Amino acid sequence: MKKIFPIYQKHSKLAYLDSAATALKPKSVIDAVCDYYSFYSANIHRGIYEISEEATKKYEEARDVVAKFIGAKSNEIVFTRGTTESINLVACGWGEINIKQGDEIILTVMEHHSNLLPWQILAKKTGAKLKYLGLKNGQLDLTELKNILTSKTKLVALTQISNVLGMENPIKELATQVKNYNSDIKILVDGAQAVAHIKVDVKDLGVDFYAFSGHKLYGPTGIGVLWARSEILDKMEPLNYGGGMIKEVSLYDSILADGVDKFEGGTPPIAEVIALAEAVKFVENLGFDFISDREEKLMSYLIEQISNIPNLKIVGQGSSLMTFVIEGVHTHDVAEILNRYGVCVRSGHHCAMPLHEILGVEATTRVSLGIYNDKDDIDNLIKGLKEVGKIFKVKLPI
Ligand code: ALA
Repeated sequence: MKKIFPIYQKHSKLAYLDSAATALKPKSVIDAVCDYYSFYSANIHRGIYEISEEATKKYEEARDVVAKFIGAKSNEIVFTRGTTESINLVACGWGEINIKQGDEIILTVMEHHSNLLPWQILAKKTGAKLKYLGLKNGQLDLTELKNILTSKTKLVALTQISNVLGMENPIKELATQVKNYNSDIKILVDGAQAVAHIKVDVKDLGVDFYAFSGHKLYGPTGIGVLWARSEILDKMEPLNYGGGMIKEVSLYDSILADGVDKFEGGTPPIAEVIALAEAVKFVENLGFDFISDREEKLMSYLIEQISNIPNLKIVGQGSSLMTFVIEGVHTHDVAEILNRYGVCVRSGHHCAMPLHEILGVEATTRVSLGIYNDKDDIDNLIKGLKEVGKIFKVKLPI
């Protein structure tokens, strides 16, 4: 598998265990970016000449590929810069119209800052109130939901897979409970950590907004997706006003374009959109059975290797990522020492400061898996952890 990721040609010993931050890119994705810039790098939706038409065709075909990937229709896919922008688009473009003083937004304590800050700002602007679903035995406490839903609830926004705890939240179950309570309440799902690991069908989930990034899905940075039904998108405002998103403009007024074009003002990230479709095809060709089987086996191997270490405490664990702390050693020191073994992990609060505070830890070290990882990577991690033990004189595997 490593053969199809060109980065290993330069860094043959790399043990890249930070795919939750961003995934490495397969050759097909890199080639798609190169092909666009080499052979048809024209703008889209504007030029009446061959290479522009080719670019437009590939850009719109990418929308079809992405839509099919998550069980949606093409006119429900808005290209954004990433999950963060997708959520901000909902907060501004939907929230500012629909959320009023006294309304309530339900979040969970495990949210990434990108699914916290947009709602905090919206709440401050509108006078709305934020409420939180907490944890019970390290899982989302769904039993609390019935106690915090009220007639004022307008939105529930949560992550599908936590970037710190790693577990998959029961989105479908939550959506059923919320919609049974009041079908007008909207549900937004942050799918950033999910789309590369589990099959997502937005209609089956029963939610209203789904946001994800391309770069965690083996695709380029700077490209993301917001999914919503067209009847919701039609009533939303865009984040960016300008070229390419209008039907008609006069000096004092303008009529916005119909459909998703309204949200994609300015020249979009054309190469990134086209390469995102390649990333989706890459994942689809592997298949989610293959992906999860491989990740689960490797995660079991990892847990087996480190779970009996007295000073190492696992903080969160799912099938594609785990976080841990080593008593008496700062997580940045752990990451720095692992780097000496070619091991890349993330350390810190992972943009989830409130969750770390609730868990009672300042920071954690995170190991997250991608499709290229193998036992050698885990063995290198263990070698690095032994070195951490030696340097800090903590009891680690020998
Ligand atoms: N959200 C990414 C992470 O969790 C960057 O590392």
